[in-house]
Amino acid sequence: MCEEFLKSRRSIRKFQDKDVPNEVLIKLVEIANNAPSSNNNEPWKFIFIRDKKTKQELSKLHKGASHLADAPIVVAVVAEPDRNPNTWMVDVPNAALYFALAAHCLGLGVGWVASYYNKTASSILGIPSNKVLVTLMSIGYPDYTPKPKTNLKPEDVILYERWS
Ligand SMILES: Cc1cc2nc3c(=O)[nH]c(=O)nc-3n(C[C@H](O)[C@H](O)[C@H](O)COP(=O)(O)O)c2cc1C
Repeated sequence: MCEEFLKSRRSIRKFQDKDVPNEVLIKLVEIANNAPSSNNNEPWKFIFIRDKKTKQELSKLHKGASHLADAPIVVAVVAEPDRNPNTWMVDVPNAALYFALAAHCLGLGVGWVASYYNKTASSILGIPSNKVLVTLMSIGYPDYTPKPKTNLKPEDVILYERWS
């Protein structure tokens, strides 16, 4: 059921020592390309990173990035602001979330990493200055089952008619 599927997605930060074939990653991108974007311009690119040294370098960006080192694959989600100058900051997270949900659907886990120290990460990956690294994600087959978490309740986040 789609409600259970969506509610069961959790961040995964430890992975089985099992490869994720390129065909599977390509499938995830094929699904992510269905994400909504203004004018359907799809202003994103995905960099697949398997090189151990690069993953290790990225894992040192900040404390929350450490799980990148041992993930079978790291994926960088990169925005192309020139292709949708006013909406890329919404378009690209849509694609990233579609990617993460597609991974969950295929039994993979994703550990999202905030793009603090964006310039350092972009330089490690050779991303040009007119593109924006939006996020890094560790991907792999989960090595554990996360416990359920507590979320805000609908009444905590819903307002009616106006901000109040
Ligand atoms: C934009 C963004 C940045 C995040 N950055 C990190 C991070 O740097 N390191 C990390 O371990 N998790 C990171 N997370 C994962 C969040 O900590 C996680 O989504 C949140 O605690 C809710 O848990 P859940 O994903 O299991 O539902 C990030 C998530 C998002 C959406």
